[in-house]
Amino acid sequence: DEELVVLGIETSCDDTAAAVVRSNGEILSQVVSSQADLLVRYGGVAPKMAEEAHSLVIDQVVQEALDKAKLTEEDLSAVAVTIGPGLSLCLRVGVRKARKLAGAYALPIIGVHHMEAHALVARLFQSDLQFPFMAFLISGGHNLLVLARDLGHYIQLGTTIDDAIGEAYDKTAKWLGLDMRKSGGPAVEELAREGSHETAQRLQFLLCSDAAIHVAEASEEDRKARADIAASFQRVAVLHLEEKCERAIEWAMEIEPSVKHLVVSGGVASNQYVRSRLNKIIEKKGLQLVCPPPSLCTDNGAMIAWAGIEHFRMGRYDPPPPACEPEDAV
Ligand code: KG4
Ligand code: ZN
Repeated sequence: DEELVVLGIETSCDDTAAAVVRSNGEILSQVVSSQADLLVRYGGVAPKMAEEAHSLVIDQVVQEALDKAKLTEEDLSAVAVTIGPGLSLCLRVGVRKARKLAGAYALPIIGVHHMEAHALVARLFQSDLQFPFMAFLISGGHNLLVLARDLGHYIQLGTTIDDAIGEAYDKTAKWLGLDMRKSGGPAVEELAREGSHETAQRLQFLLCSDAAIHVAEASEEDRKARADIAASFQRVAVLHLEEKCERAIEWAMEIEPSVKHLVVSGGVASNQYVRSRLNKIIEKKGLQLVCPPPSLCTDNGAMIAWAGIEHFRMGRYDPPPPACEPEDAV
């Protein structure tokens, strides 16, 4: 197995990220440029604005990833890039950059599915994690429960029908008037530590984040009341996750009794409360939790590079694009 060095590029949402990863699992560099300032100013991701922000920093982010890895383009084996799901205007910035680079240096290119990368990164973090395993992906865009039978073979056990949990956290943070510079989730988690979730029962009758919005309006000034709301929201939201998780495990065990691990990944997986609650369910069911560190759970380039490596090893990649492709070809 020849040693590979792959550059991963991620621009599907509001972070511009690049990383260089070796096939032995070594992360040589990781760079993330966040648009959090824009998010605060406009209260959400505006696609056109996000595209411009990606375009402004993409060259610099990729260069920094190469510099930190002490490599040049010529040392790379391939370029991996997120091709979806995500905002198409934003995805295009990453794909264009990847194709330009791959064209100029005659590198193969690997198109990566963002959610698959969130799941596979668990095998970068824990190298002895074998298929089949379950994955619970909880992020800003999607909640997804899958049974990963093999690379590229996934059975979907559950998915979001309305807001993904990260979005519910973000909305709650916004309505509680919290500092969103680090994105809403961590802010709610922090405030929730000061509160109790006795009001959870009241919230349960309404839908999580919407309920938090109503109660928040009534208690703008009172930090303790807001902390209680944060704690209650978190309690109710995570209870939903626990129920879904438990049911999915039972289902998965019927399909694939040899499953031993459940991966929890995606931005919301960096939440300590979420981790510990899900861990209880997972242990009760006789499985082991695999939860990568926050830097690999939130959107990052290393997970894209790693998913690229896994596919490249199986021969799944595209040949280098033409060296002088017109800019509007993508
Ligand atoms: O995976 P991710 O970085 O991007 C998507 O693919 O969506 O997830 C971002 C989401 C955001 O909604 C953010 O608020 C949430 O993950 N998040 C958290 C925490 N850290 C990030 N939610 C709750 N608690 C956290 N500590
Ligand atoms: Zn993500």
